[in-house]
Amino acid sequence: MSTPPKSFHVKSFGCQMNVYDGERMAELMTAQGMTVATDAAEADLVVLNTCHIRERATEKVYSDIGRLRREDGSRPMIAVAGCVAQAEGAEIARRAKVDVVVGPQAYHNLPSLVAEAGSGQLAIDTDMPPESKFGALAPRRRSGPTAFLTVQEGCDKFCTYCVVPYTRGAEVSRPWAALMDEARALVDAGAREITLLGQNVNAWTGEDEAGRTQGLDGLIRALDRLPGLARIRYTTSHPNDMTQGLIDAHGDVEKLMPYLHLPVQSGSDRVLKAMNRSHTRDGYLRLLDRVRAVRPDIALSGDFIVGFPGETDAEFADTLRLVDAVGYAQAFSFKYSPRPGTPAADYAGPVPADVMDDRLQQLQAALLRDQQAFNAAAVGRATQVLIERRGKLPGQMLGKSPWLQSVHLITDARIGDLVEVDLVAAGPVSLSGRERVAAAA
Ligand code: SAH
Ligand code: SF4
Ligand code: F3S
Repeated sequence: MSTPPKSFHVKSFGCQMNVYDGERMAELMTAQGMTVATDAAEADLVVLNTCHIRERATEKVYSDIGRLRREDGSRPMIAVAGCVAQAEGAEIARRAKVDVVVGPQAYHNLPSLVAEAGSGQLAIDTDMPPESKFGALAPRRRSGPTAFLTVQEGCDKFCTYCVVPYTRGAEVSRPWAALMDEARALVDAGAREITLLGQNVNAWTGEDEAGRTQGLDGLIRALDRLPGLARIRYTTSHPNDMTQGLIDAHGDVEKLMPYLHLPVQSGSDRVLKAMNRSHTRDGYLRLLDRVRAVRPDIALSGDFIVGFPGETDAEFADTLRLVDAVGYAQAFSFKYSPRPGTPAADYAGPVPADVMDDRLQQLQAALLRDQQAFNAAAVGRATQVLIERRGKLPGQMLGKSPWLQSVHLITDARIGDLVEVDLVAAGPVSLSGRERVAAAA
């Protein structure tokens, strides 16, 4: 039996929910008396919190496991958590020397798994128990100015390319009271902005204190009344769960920031159907019109996949035209990556790698052009910036505008302050701001 680990390091590879899970695992281990090692090389226990969404994410895990071996041949205790652990638990244990394998719905058991592994045995838990792991987690005691709060997990949409319904399980909404408690704890710990997370966050539903059924807009309206909280965001939404109530909230909830991440994936109806996206190009565009009707300045963001099996040049051109029609403030684009066990992995007509590269380049050039245009259009606006960290220059601080743009400015304000600024110049990925000095009376 080896000595129990005294220090730990969590490395998160995935989406924002994966980062949230990493924070919660860290809290669990801190509650066990372990300390944080900022460097993985110095930790007794390293938690690799993995992502399975695309092939390269998985490969990174194996190379990371290899890199944890020290010069003297020893290595820390290794726990593989996250979506690769869920999808390939047995495979990881076969391919690499690890101590713990724990899935995204079982990580509340991490301390007992670590104890079990201490006796030299591989400890695996990839169960998806019907009861919620959240009740077994440690309370939130620390927070930066911006915090994540998972309100919904899992996905029932089964897009044909995607592993998430298999790694995260079915859609589950956390209860109202637990979310309000966690939000309050985060604000007490210093959070000024909370981003509500879910794989389909706008599918969240629950009952409020009075027993009334509420959607995400109801939860947002309740959080709007939370003293000390300044900003609310949410991600990721599915077009089909975008209710009129949620759209309306963008028009009249002051703390709800003017930013909407609404993945579309493709601008071709044939491809959308093959992806099982259950929305059309036109339906998506009309939805955005409704959002812009209540909040004309909203920053729109999206996700795109190029090179889905069978995607023709003309179909890809439809995606470029959709981008032109929307004018995204920011977007994420990926080459299609076949994932084992998903229907699309067996679809005919793989797109050759060079065609895929070329399409991604064209798309990213168009998205960058629009992002720059959006940032340039913000110059001259007076707005607020939430200060998140120190910049490289003396006196410089970095923060975010309501539209999620990075803004740098010279100020005496501290991390967590909301500063009134004029946006004075735009670079490709950030803006520079000037603090507004209140006019002398
Ligand atoms: N629930 C969200 C996000 C899912 S994962 C949604 O429905 O939009 C984040 C993004 O990864 C997806 O929006 C998609 O653009 C991309 N993605 C998912 N599976 C992929 C795959 N097999 N290959 C390439 N990109 C993928
Ligand atoms: Fe994946 Fe589609 Fe679910 Fe998003 S909606 S998590 S892309 S299956
Ligand atoms: Fe990756 Fe799992 Fe998130 S596959 S994107 S970590 S839900």
